[in-house]
Order: sequence, then structure tokens, then C-alpha cells
Amino acid sequence: MVGALALSIVLAYNNVVTSSRPPIVAIDGPAGAGKSVIARRLASALGFTHVDTGALYRSVALAAEMRGVSWEDGPALGTLTRELVENSSLLLEPSNSGGSRVRLFGNDVTDAIREVSITRGSSRVSAHPEVRAALLDLQRDVGKAGGVVLEGRDIGTVVFPNAEVKFFLTASPEIRARRRYDEMAAKSGTAEISYDEVLADVRQRDVQDTERAIAPLRQAPGAIVIDSTAMTLDETVAAMVAKVAKRA
Ligand code: DC
Repeated sequence: MVGALALSIVLAYNNVVTSSRPPIVAIDGPAGAGKSVIARRLASALGFTHVDTGALYRSVALAAEMRGVSWEDGPALGTLTRELVENSSLLLEPSNSGGSRVRLFGNDVTDAIREVSITRGSSRVSAHPEVRAALLDLQRDVGKAGGVVLEGRDIGTVVFPNAEVKFFLTASPEIRARRRYDEMAAKSGTAEISYDEVLADVRQRDVQDTERAIAPLRQAPGAIVIDSTAMTLDETVAAMVAKVAKRA
């Protein structure tokens, strides 16, 4: 009798805990749609944690370069990625600014993984099923308690298909390239590459990300499409906060 009562209390407690878990917000979209800055602002407006899953793929590309593993060698990349996860050699840590810092082999690589060559490499390594499989549980572990905004390419389709709120954030290739170019120019005073090269890179990554065989970039069923081509950052974030408030 006491056992049955205890069991029903545990079940009721679990129900309350399950139903009151804070929402998971998934944001997917092409390169340069402003996902990172928007996800960070949205997370801060909601009091949620921001998880930039692209940083994981970028870190794998950097780790491969450091270890002399080719970006085309799926099995070797899979072994390397599993090793990074199992040994906690790849960590996303919250930073004081509300974003996150990325630590690889104990070093802060937050800025290094944004370099042009690593950006290209991240798209290549992310096409390998071995790499995606090795990063899947890590992403699910980080997000499962809810109260998170996860951004990437397959969050709403593969990582958390049952997320309470799913966004597909997009903008025209030209405006995405313009924003990325301006961002690079503002950071270093002069852009590393020309606007035309940035646009070519954006288009090339769109093809790679949408046409790869595994977990291609797709709008998830039930996703809310936000086209930020003609919207400011503030307008975009405000529109998304309103959608989360309505859905969650
Ligand atoms: O969002 P980003 O530009 O930092 O992502 C870097 C690369 O990683 C991008 O080319 C696609 C890939 N990526 C992915 O395949 N799946 C994710 N969930 C996140 C990023």
C-alpha cells in the first residue's frame, strides 16, 4: 500500500516536472541569416541558455586541422569527434556576455573557429554521418532540460524534432553576404576577403548544406518561417519573442 502510494507520488511528481519543463526553442536556417546574434538575443530576452551548435562542427574542423586529419575522411573524423566528446576535449562554456566560449583541448578557440578557412572546413566535416552521429547525443544532453535556444541546421528536423517552438530563419543570399562582409570589416578594419568572395562562399555553403545526403538543411514540419531580409535585428527578435510567448 505504502509502496503503491509512493509510486503514485513519484509518477505525479514526474508528470508535473515533465509538463513544466521550460520549452526548447530550435532555430535553423542558412549561413549568415543572423542566427547566432538573434539566438543569443532571443535567449537573453527569454532568460534561456543559448547553444550554438555550429561551433561544434567548426571545432571539429579545427581539431582535424591540428591533428592532420583530412576534412574528407569521414571515418577518421568520426573517431576524432568521438574522442573529443568522450574526453571532454570540446566544451561550450557560458560567457559573461551571455554568449558562450568554445574550449578545445583546453584552449579558448572562440575566435579561431570563425576564420574563413575553418568556416569552409566546418561545412565539409558536417557532411559526414560519422561526425553528425558523434555530436548528436552531446547536443541532446545540453538541451534536454529545456530553457534553451539551440541554433543550427538540423535542430528542428533531427536533434529536437519535438521542440515546442521551431523557427526557420532565412534571408536572401545577397543580404546574408552583405551582413557577413560588414561584420568582418567592422572587426578587423579591413575585410579578409571581398564582398563577391563572401557571396560566392555563402552560395557554396548553401549548396553543401542543403544538398548533403545526411541531415540536409530543411524547414522542419511545423516550423515558423522568419525572413529577415527586410527586417532589423530588433524587429526580428521581437517577432520571435512574441511567437514563443504564444506557442510555449
Ligand atoms: O552556423 P555556422 O555557420 O557556425 O555552422 C558552421 C557549419 O556547420 C555549417 O556549414 C553547417 C554546419 N552545421 C550543421 O551541419 N549542423 C548544425 N546543427 C550546425 C552547423
